[in-house]
Amino acid sequence: TAPRTFRIAAIPADGVGKEVVAAGRAVLDALAEDSAGAFAFEWREFPWGCEYYERTGTMMDEDGLDQLKDFDAIYFGAVGWPTVPDHISLWGLRLKICQSFDQWANVRPVHFLPGVVSPLRKADDTELDWVVVRENSEGEYAGLGGRNLGGRGPGGEVAVQSALFTEVGCERIMRFAFDLARNRAHKKVSSVTKSNAQQYGMVLWDDVFKRVAADYPDVETESVLVDAMSAKFVLKPEDLSVVVASNLNADILSDLGSALAGSLGLAASANLNPERRYPSMFEPVHGSAPDIAGHGLANPIGAVGSAALMLEHFGLPDQAARLNKSIEATTAVGILTRDVGGTASTEDVTKAIIDALNA
Ligand code: NAI
Ligand code: MG
Repeated sequence: TAPRTFRIAAIPADGVGKEVVAAGRAVLDALAEDSAGAFAFEWREFPWGCEYYERTGTMMDEDGLDQLKDFDAIYFGAVGWPTVPDHISLWGLRLKICQSFDQWANVRPVHFLPGVVSPLRKADDTELDWVVVRENSEGEYAGLGGRNLGGRGPGGEVAVQSALFTEVGCERIMRFAFDLARNRAHKKVSSVTKSNAQQYGMVLWDDVFKRVAADYPDVETESVLVDAMSAKFVLKPEDLSVVVASNLNADILSDLGSALAGSLGLAASANLNPERRYPSMFEPVHGSAPDIAGHGLANPIGAVGSAALMLEHFGLPDQAARLNKSIEATTAVGILTRDVGGTASTEDVTKAIIDALNA
């Protein structure tokens, strides 16, 4: 049979994004090379990001979305650099892609690895394993609001930042979470809100959750307020399987989860357009890490794990599993970057993962 060729748009963007995207590409290319021609990856790299902004005044080309729309997937690094205000760089590239391509489901597994010491007392990579499902198209990141409202003059500025919740938006992310839970050993969905204080949008969320849950009697459910859930992440993580939350709450909780697993550098993420009308985007959870960028210190595991999520999206679950096993084989023997207590470089870890593919 003819090889399946997947066309991937790589957008390394800024800081460690460049280092970890290079690592992920190397691992995927090694996998393809070893596939005896069964599949191949065709890459195109885009130079967008903060340096591009400084040169051109835009984070991506005017017709950037047009350039991206026919790729099979987008492999993203991280955006942001101290020379450009964060709200400009984030909205100009990452959020623009997520929202324009209706990547409404953001899947963020919290994965505990052998050989990585977690700050959690009870941490055990055989028992702890959960996924944060983030509503990725509306909520607190809908971009609704404005500044200079009310004309109160200098020193009296007023700004409004509104959250948007729609029944359709809530329902689709919840069904996605329940479908995911059905395929896991622990069939449970935890819904997170702050509906005691935010009485409109988040109460709508709670109502939709109850309605959708009725269609999944085989899946256990709970509704937890976000402050209590952050405590639960630390104190009772063995109780978690699929955690579904709004854009902002899930963003915060997934950083907490990856820190508990040992480092922000470990966490993978998929921004999915489940209808496949547009390309989905795969990226590590972490940002551009200006404090360590350019020194070969970045942990590539979040980016490589995101590549595994991309393989699943391509319909190559065996290859995804093989990649994840290679990550585990690497951490298990103590080949670790500095953030997780080791001395290995980005390149050392990447090479070890590639070597483990064929072990
Ligand atoms: P960050 O995630 O870049 O860094 C937080 C801490 O985690 C730093 O101490 C960093 O050294 C460490 N870290 C992050 N990734 C690592 C890796 N792969 N290996 C080892 N250590 C790692 O978050 P921060 O500092 O708040 O933001 C820096 C920039 O990144 C900002 O401009 C921010 O807007 C942007 N950002 C972009 C995101 C994206 O593109 N998806 C997500 C989060 C932040
Ligand atoms: Mg975040």
